[in-house]
Order: sequence, then structure tokens, then C-alpha cells
Amino acid sequence: MSMTNLTPSADTADSGEAGHPFHITKEEERRLRLQGARAVPSPVIGQATSFDEYARQLMIPPAVMDLARKAADLRLSAWEVEAMRKHLAPAESDEHMGLLRRILRRKYDQDSSHPPYIRVACTGRGDFDDLATEHGHLDSLDDTEGDIGSPVVLEIWPAQHYSPIHSHGHTSGIVFCLAGQLDVMLYDSLKWDATKLGLVTLTPGQCAWLTKETYAVHRVFCPMDGGDGSTGPGFMNSTDEFGASFHVYLNPDETAVLHEDGESYNRDVFDYIREDDHRRDKFQTHSDLSWSVLRRVLSSTPLT
Ligand SMILES: [Fe+2]
Repeated sequence: MSMTNLTPSADTADSGEAGHPFHITKEEERRLRLQGARAVPSPVIGQATSFDEYARQLMIPPAVMDLARKAADLRLSAWEVEAMRKHLAPAESDEHMGLLRRILRRKYDQDSSHPPYIRVACTGRGDFDDLATEHGHLDSLDDTEGDIGSPVVLEIWPAQHYSPIHSHGHTSGIVFCLAGQLDVMLYDSLKWDATKLGLVTLTPGQCAWLTKETYAVHRVFCPMDGGDGSTGPGFMNSTDEFGASFHVYLNPDETAVLHEDGESYNRDVFDYIREDDHRRDKFQTHSDLSWSVLRRVLSSTPLT
């Protein structure tokens, strides 16, 4: 990649502004956004409007271009966005809490080292599907098969919430923005003080990508209005703003190009850096909800 990397020393917090989630100053943010915009190959796939942009996208691998092309027309409808807002909004009482806010609270209770986000498996089950019937959103659940490793995932990012730094290993995939706004910081390796390669912002219709060689390590953050307080460990937002993204991950044997290096990384487990002790850990890719359950809950949500 032809980029000028920020060295870890240049990246060290040197003012009070360098807080969560990226630990950079305003000046570093400006430089990293410039690096993201000039990076080759381009970290963002879009319809090129200049020769320069076309040239930056030229060497994006065909396997991820194919995934991006297939996702290009995906959007959440206005009513789906409104219904998601209702289910994410802070509640006055437990009884009136939406399904998505309830799941966020459960995840927060399990791990408050970073503000939680929600993974929705487009195939297979979710760990919290039962909450939809338990709290009266649905009468019954479908008999859905599946566990970890859904190749297609919808992720819901409440405003000011973020993921740890994580790697998608040997998979090839896309992060396609469906709603709101998402910041993606790219890193050169999976460690707490990894060099930052660039910062890009995705809006609906824009698509980031990754392969095992390129942009496999990142952190995702929703920069929208999260209400009072600064984001960080223990933060939970107080608005219904959110970003949503559609993720596809193909294992090495599912892409047209085979890597014969004998390793067996796949999307069932992704490595990440823990926010509390900065050590490497493994995330089994369980999802929180299944899309079949969420779609039924959203369609039965009154939008008044
Ligand atoms: Fe990711």
C-alpha cells in the first residue's frame, strides 16, 4: 500500500482531545482522513467520478468488487429506520424498553469495556432472539437453524458506540453502510498500539472492504449525536440515533482466489484487542438477533 504511515510515537496522545475511541488529536484526525482519502488501493468502493479515484480503485480485488456490486442497491426503508429508532430509544421504564435497547443493556452488563453494538445474523439464530417473545414483541419464534459464523450480518451502531480493534483474519469481505454514518479506522496489525493507516467515513451506499492482505484490521465507530457524556468504557448513549451496516465475510475457500498457505482462519472466530487490558482475545461470531426475528418485530412496531 502506498501510504505514509503515522508512527506509534506520532500517534501518542499529546492533548486532552485524544480520547475514545481512536485516541487521536484533531490534528492527527485531519492527517488520517487525508491518508484514508489518498490510500491506494482505495479503502472505500464507490462509483468513481474522477480519473484519480478510478485509479485508486483499480487494484481492489475482484472478489470484494463482486460483493460490493451485489450489495450496491441495498437500503433500509424509511419505516425500517424509524422502527429501529423506536427500539433503540432510551426508555422511561423497563416495561417500555424497545428490543434493541434491551439487548444493548444486556450486552453492557456482560462487558462494559466498550459501548455495545448489535450483530444481526441474516442467516441463523441470535443469542437474544428469545427476548422478542419474552417481552411481547412477537407471539412465537421460527425454528431457525444456525449458530456462529453467519456470512451475512447486519450491524446496528448506536450513536457514539464503537467496536474494539479487531481483525477479520483470512476472510474477504465488505462493510456496506445502510443508514446514518460510520467512521472506520484502519490499522496495519492487530495490537493496541498498531499504526493507523487511515480514517474513512461511510454514508449510505458507500462500502469499505477487506482481505487478509489489505485492511483486515479495523475499528468501527458511529460518530452521530449520542446525547450527554463522552464516549468510552461504561458509556451508554441517550439518543435514538444510529448507523447501520451490512457485512459480508467469505472464507478463503469461498473466494475465486485460493491462498495455499495452510492456515485455516474463517469467519467463525475473529481476533480482537481487549479494551481493558489491551491483550489479544478471540470473539466467536455469535449474533445477538436473527434478521427473521428483527424483521417481524420491526414490521409490527407502531410508528406514530
Ligand atoms: Fe469488523
